[in-house]
Amino acid sequence: MPNNPASSAPVVIFDNVSLRYGETVALDQVSFQVNAGQTWVFLGEAGSGKTQMCKVMMGLVRPDSGRVVIFGDEISSKGEREMFAVRAKIGMLFQESALFDSMTIEENVAYPLENQPVRHCGPEQIHDRVVEALRFVELEKTLDKVPSELSGGMRRRVGIARATVTQPPLAIYDSPTAGLDPITANNIMAFIAKQRDLKGTTSIIVSHRYQDGVLMANYYYDEAQGRLIAATGERLASVHTTFVVMQAGRIVFVGPQTELEASTDPYVSKFGRR
Ligand SMILES: Nc1ncnc2c1ncn2[C@@H]1O[C@H](COP(=O)(O)OP(=O)(O)OP(=O)(O)O)[C@@H](O)[C@H]1O
Ligand SMILES: [Mg+2]
Repeated sequence: MPNNPASSAPVVIFDNVSLRYGETVALDQVSFQVNAGQTWVFLGEAGSGKTQMCKVMMGLVRPDSGRVVIFGDEISSKGEREMFAVRAKIGMLFQESALFDSMTIEENVAYPLENQPVRHCGPEQIHDRVVEALRFVELEKTLDKVPSELSGGMRRRVGIARATVTQPPLAIYDSPTAGLDPITANNIMAFIAKQRDLKGTTSIIVSHRYQDGVLMANYYYDEAQGRLIAATGERLASVHTTFVVMQAGRIVFVGPQTELEASTDPYVSKFGRR
């Protein structure tokens, strides 16, 4: 469903957010605003603060200063209990997938439905919802397996199913393609685009691979053909993607693909090369 990302409501606002661990600056006065339906891709060297930014967004880590507003709720001042309702609207694919090794794939994907204090569905619907989420990533045959029986790419797809099983309006994917070969990586990105384009999910993607952002910015998922198609015209506007480059906890670049590729900054331009 093409949406109009430019005119929609704010989903995430970071206003001068800073976070330190002793001497280490994890986030340094980070400010940005993501609106409903938008796609944002965060790039930056190891340790630049990408994962910490995701964790602050989910309320898993509290910043030292600044304001974080998620779906209009300022979460910086919220207690753990009040965070439940906010977190229920966010799906997260953690770096390295973070599946529970001792649980089956079905149990892993059911986890947010069964363990979030916010009720997403009745107990009798959980199985169907899990099957549906796994079918979305073409893994509905793996219900009874455990993570160690799946390939790295399949585990990442299970992670996507777990992140999206509640149909959250906001999905955060931390390094969804890290450590995967290029074909598997493109395959993973197709499922992330599918979620965005069929469900209208606001998408925040952390990546080490510029190609991931290029895919999100130029392709849409076509349901009839079951694959990514190069976007043109109105479609191209609906997949519009904002790129962010982070360095030592700071945002050093925000803009579209064309601007990133035109950057002459030695650090920033490294991230805009295919
Ligand atoms: N629990 C912690 N204690 C101390 N320092 C931490 C902790 N978590 C993160 N940091 C530091 O915060 C900074 C940002 O880390 P973060 O994990 O966000 O980087 P990243 O951009 O996600 O890196 P990568 O690309 O390797 O995943 C790093 O300097 C890191 O060492
Ligand atoms: Mg990280």
